[in-house]
Amino acid sequence: METLRAEKVSYSYQTKYQKVDAVREVSCIFEHKKMYAIIGESGSGKSTFLSLLAGLDVPDAGTIYVQGQSLKEMDRDAYRLNQASVVYQSFHLFPLLNALENVMLPLEFKGMKKKDAKRAAQELLHKVGLTEKIYRQFPKMMSGGEQQRVAIARAVAAGGEVILADEPTGNLDSENEEKIVELLKNLAHEDGYTVIVITHNPSVAEAADHVFRMKDGAMEAVR
Ligand SMILES: Nc1ncnc2c1ncn2[C@@H]1O[C@H](COP(=O)(O)OP(=O)(O)OP(=O)(O)O)[C@@H](O)[C@H]1O
Ligand SMILES: [Mg+2]
Repeated sequence: METLRAEKVSYSYQTKYQKVDAVREVSCIFEHKKMYAIIGESGSGKSTFLSLLAGLDVPDAGTIYVQGQSLKEMDRDAYRLNQASVVYQSFHLFPLLNALENVMLPLEFKGMKKKDAKRAAQELLHKVGLTEKIYRQFPKMMSGGEQQRVAIARAVAAGGEVILADEPTGNLDSENEEKIVELLKNLAHEDGYTVIVITHNPSVAEAADHVFRMKDGAMEAVR
């Protein structure tokens, strides 16, 4: 089942001195229950394309379809809130909230009662392999791998069917990297998410069902 589709999507940055065509007529389809890797050299347009898929930026040309509906015709804020979650290399956890509160936040934001949000957050932390020990810890007291797992739990708490991850293992050692890759793969294969991961890491790309490569803003299917 198709979750996301890009059709001839282009995006340029206009700076004071130049125009950079970061994404050029990219077309591709992402299906549910699948994990995708996007590889490519630095500056090839990967993060820009991800931000278009996430609804954080709007294509200059072309269309992104979410389950067949043009993102242009949808409420982008609702799409970001309810359907697409982004996970970053540097985790972006709220430093003044502990692990449990970080995961509870999107749940409460959506109107869940505190008690229910707490229970759901505990389940999610359990799901990403974290124990009770972590609940009260603040991000700066956690390891990189733990922070990334909390960030993924929070992305899942935010709901939706699409998880977009920009270099999610970029700051991790190989042992933690393996755990995160396993986690993302399970979210796709077992829980039905569409997982799209930008990576420089061959072993992360190896784990994906399909691989795309970006080059100078254009995209090609590798496998
Ligand atoms: N805010 C911006 N203003 C102007 N140009 C930008 C901006 N952000 C990115 N670019 C340019 O757009 C192109 C694509 O950048 P992008 O960040 O998408 O690449 P990337 O593939 O994610 O690279 P990396 O692997 O280094 O993260 C690059 O040439 C970059 O310099
Ligand atoms: Mg990038």
